[in-house]
Amino acid sequence: MQLNTTIPALNRWQTSPSIDTLQSLYDTSADQWHNNLVRLGQIHDYQLLFKSQAVYDRLRHLDQTARILDCGVGTGAFSAALLDSIEQPVHISGIDISYPMLTHARQNLKNRCTALDLWWGDIQRLPFADNSFDTVIFAHVLEHMADPVETLREIARVLKPGAPLIGSVTRKGLGQRLLSLRWHNRGYTANQLNLFLQAAGLETVEPFDYGTGWSTWMCIATLGVKPRVKIKP
Ligand SMILES: C[S@@+](CC[C@H](N)C(=O)[O-])C[C@H]1O[C@@H](n2cnc3c(N)ncnc32)[C@H](O)[C@@H]1O
Repeated sequence: MQLNTTIPALNRWQTSPSIDTLQSLYDTSADQWHNNLVRLGQIHDYQLLFKSQAVYDRLRHLDQTARILDCGVGTGAFSAALLDSIEQPVHISGIDISYPMLTHARQNLKNRCTALDLWWGDIQRLPFADNSFDTVIFAHVLEHMADPVETLREIARVLKPGAPLIGSVTRKGLGQRLLSLRWHNRGYTANQLNLFLQAAGLETVEPFDYGTGWSTWMCIATLGVKPRVKIKP
């Protein structure tokens, strides 16, 4: 007799969870999310990422008219770290599939920006016009995408030519596999991340390590730039 057994926990990280699964996972985690980030040192590490020379050099041109989009904004921690690193407040737009996360993001960001608009929606279909944003940022959402390159193409669509994309993802490895049992997240190598951004049409791609604790072994940051339109001589 053939014995058919499956071990879902071992296969889970190889598939992409549905939006509904992710939404309910993050809805129920929203109230603890910020404290967990503090406990892991992730807030501090996000600040270090935005203060790193490569990222700071890309952001120092931002003025009060600048529009920033945070994809998978969560409770707003990644945007808050960006705001800590620049001299002027800017307009922040955030998008997420979890209303409870967005409610926390509103509380955390509302007095810190020239304008704040938060959207319930899927980053695979952004509700924004082409070439709208001076910078797009994302932290730990690409790991949930069935097709990371298509998602990055959609993100690149809304970036202005010459504008940077700054992101953080989970590094592929044992730690990520353990995390994925709860969070259903994939992990990527620096090389994979590089190839994803290049396939999405971004230039000057520089994956780099950041942080002092958790993030140094669990995360990789990336920086890409949307090419400027070339004018034929
Ligand atoms: C790991 S959390 C990161 C949150 C925040 N960026 C941070 O660093 O604290 C991932 C976030 O992405 C959101 N998310 C997952 N899939 C999404 C999708 N397809 N579109 C928009 N948001 C999504 C989740 O609801 C959650 O808030």
